[in-house]
Formats: sequence, C-alpha cells, structure tokens
Amino acid sequence: MSTIRSRVLAWVGRRYLARQQKNGFDLSKISFLPEAALMPLKRDGLDPVPDLRQRREEAPIAKLDLPFGMNAWLVTGYEESKAILGRVKGFSTDFTNLVGSAGVTAEQNPGGLGFADPPVHTRLRKLLTPEFTMRRLSRLTPRIDEIVAAQLDAMENAEGPVDLWESFALPIPSLTICELLGVPYEDREEFQRLSTARFDLFGGAGASLGAMTESLSYLMDVVKKQREQPGDGLLGMLIKDHGDEIDDRELAGLADGVLTGGLETTASMLALGALVLLRDPGAFDAVRGDDESVHKFVEELLRYLTVVQMAFPRFATEDMEIGGVRIAEGDIVLVSLSGANRDPALGGGLESFDGGRAATSHLAFSYGIHRCIGAELARMELRAAYPALVRRFPKMRLAVEPEDLAFRQVSIVYGVDALPVLLK
Ligand code: HEM
Repeated sequence: MSTIRSRVLAWVGRRYLARQQKNGFDLSKISFLPEAALMPLKRDGLDPVPDLRQRREEAPIAKLDLPFGMNAWLVTGYEESKAILGRVKGFSTDFTNLVGSAGVTAEQNPGGLGFADPPVHTRLRKLLTPEFTMRRLSRLTPRIDEIVAAQLDAMENAEGPVDLWESFALPIPSLTICELLGVPYEDREEFQRLSTARFDLFGGAGASLGAMTESLSYLMDVVKKQREQPGDGLLGMLIKDHGDEIDDRELAGLADGVLTGGLETTASMLALGALVLLRDPGAFDAVRGDDESVHKFVEELLRYLTVVQMAFPRFATEDMEIGGVRIAEGDIVLVSLSGANRDPALGGGLESFDGGRAATSHLAFSYGIHRCIGAELARMELRAAYPALVRRFPKMRLAVEPEDLAFRQVSIVYGVDALPVLLK
C-alpha cells in the first residue's frame, strides 16, 4: 500500500474512532473489528473459546488485519506477553494515539493511571503507591469483614432466590472502595448509585457518557470537600501529603481510575468465583478450611478466570523485535491475558481449574509499569468474601439451570449479568 494511501486510511480510521468515542468508547463494541480481534474476548461458559489456544499454538504473536490500514498484533503467549508488558520504553497506552487528541474532550479522557504514559504515569503512580502497601491497606481488613458480614446478613433475611451479583458481588467492592477513598458515610448511598451507573457503562448496557461525566463531577465534589476537611482515607492522605502537587481534576481522575479499576473487576471475580464454588464441591469444602487453602484457591481462581481478558491496548512508539516478530512504530498490540495464563510455558494442565494448585506467576493483574495497583486489595476482598459466603450458606446452590446463566458476550472484563441462588 502506498504511504499516502495508508496515511489517508489511518486518518479516516482515527476520525471514525473519534466519532465512536463521542458515543461512549467501548473497544469491544466497535462493529468493524474483525472476528479475529474479538475472538479473545469470547468464552464458552467460564473458559476461553478453543480458538484462543489454537491461535497461541500457531503463533503466540499473530498479525491481525484491521481496516483502515491499521496494523495490530494479538499476543497469546506467556513469555511474549511478559516481554511486551514489561518493556519500559517503546509502548504507550494513551488513547489519543488511536483517536487523536482532537477526538477526546477533557470530560471524556478516562484519566487516572491506566491511560497515562511516563513521566505523567510515573508521577501519579508514585503518589498512589503508598496508599496501596499492605501496611496501609491492613486498616481496611476489619471494615472489609464487616462489609461482607452485612451483605450476608441482608441475604439471610431475603425470601426465595437471591441474586448473588446484586447482593454480594457488586456491593462488596463498591463499599470497599468507599472505605479506601474515604468517602464520608452520608455520601455512601449516592456513591453506591453512582457506581451502579458506572457499572452499567462498563457493562455496555446503553453505554452513556452521562454516567462517566456524572461520576467525575461527583468525585470533584468529594475532592473539594476533602480539601476543606481532609479525612484519613486515600483522598484525604493525598491532600494532606501532596495537596500542592496535584489539582482537583487530577485527584478526581485518580479516584475515578480507582473506581473503574477496582469495581467491575472484583465484582466479576466474586460472582464467577462463586459459580466455580457451586460447580466444584471439593473447592467449596477447601474454602471452608484454613487460610492456606483459601489463598491457593483465590490465586488459582485469578489465573483461571482472568476476568480482565485483555490488557489496555499498547501503541508501539518505535520499531522493535519481540519473539522474532517485527513490530513497527504505530502498530497496536493487544495482549490476551487469558491466553497467556493458560500457556504451558506457565505450567502444566492450565486449561482446567485446580483449586489446590500451587500459586503460579500468572498475569491476571498484568505485568510491568501498569500492573494492577489494587492487586493486594482485591486479594483481601476475595480472601474475606468466599470463605464467609460458604460458611454462612453451606447449602447454597444455583436457582436456575447452568445453561440459563447470561454471561457477557464480548467484553474486556468478563462477567455474568445475574447469579440467582437458593441459600437454604
Ligand atoms: C480481581 C480484581 C482485579 C483485577 C483482575 C485487576 C486487573 C487489572 C489489570 C490486568 C490491570 C493492568 C492492565 C494493563 O496492564 O493493561 C489493572 C490495572 C489497574 N487496576 Fe486493577 N484489577 C483488579 C482490582 C483492582 C482494585 C481493587 C483496584 C483499586 C481499588 C484496581 C485499580 C487498578 C488501577 C488504578 C490500575 C491502573 C494501574 C496503572 O496503569 O498503573 N484494580 N488491573
């Protein structure tokens, strides 16, 4: 293809994506994407479709032909994924690479860490990191236990089937993030409403930018209040320690990034993990046992489910060679974390779930500079919630046939829309 033609086509592509962005950006819903690009987001129940394994066996880094002359690569191998995610230089996650800065207004820029490149990313991450150390997070342990117990109490009083998604999976991370950020008690109902609206946005049901703008302006209010009276949560601490280095918008963006990163992911893990427990009586018993069994179960579950199926798209900012493949500046690289986490290079028998497996060096939280900052918090929530659930409701079972469960069809974060169970 001539250079001028390919440049024109790439420009048309960027305009197209900029228009999509105006309607609420969701990579998985862009209808022009070819089947090969959507395949890694599809599943057969809890397992990736068999094509993903086949693709990895054929080529762990495979070319994807996208329209508009855009070059993309799908990475499904474990070592290859680590090599790409771990590269400090040469990749950007800034979306304006894709849609052009003209296509993103300040309100639409997702903000937070995920879409920032160094040196901005380095500066923001350094501010957040102290709030995510085990020592700092340990203050949340008793609160997480109380949050879990309160949800279980409410479920205990319900008549008939209970939707575990609505009464267990979604409220636990939402209330935990309230606690982490230091949202005052009187604002919690509003925060819950807002995170459900944000969830609908992630979930793609009638994706409305309204929810994102509302979330940012609400968080701006919280930030302003905390400027006047800093609490002892993450926002208050950031204001106390670094108040002059960060403006309100950036702080609200960070808080929104934490909400975006920590809500749907943990909620999906809680719901799909509960389903694994219902399918696997051995795991159900193990989770009622000691801490070591619970830790093993959670680690294997993170690997097996890999709910964040794909890392943020990486845009190559220079030519490079990885795993014998030449990636050119401007190429888009899509790393399939669910593909990498079943690669025999990581261990044997990884296509199936084994709750007693020794922990693997899986990539469910990714790798490199964008590795999940909330990984330890997520583990704390999961380790608290599953044992409490099975201990409280040892007779829990599905209230519908397994084939009637509605799983998300094509979504970066895999999940289920509802999980009706009988508790007694
Ligand atoms: C089981 C639950 C979770 C999973 C599976 C998960 C997964 C991930 C993954 C895969 C990434 C990196 C994507 C990439 O490299 O492209 C990421 C980044 C991130 N996660 Fe999580 N996450 C979880 C929970 C949380 C929690 C609880 C929080 C905070 C409360 C959080 C906040 C973030 C943030 C802020 C980033 C961006 C980090 C950066 O770019 O430097 N996540 N997460």
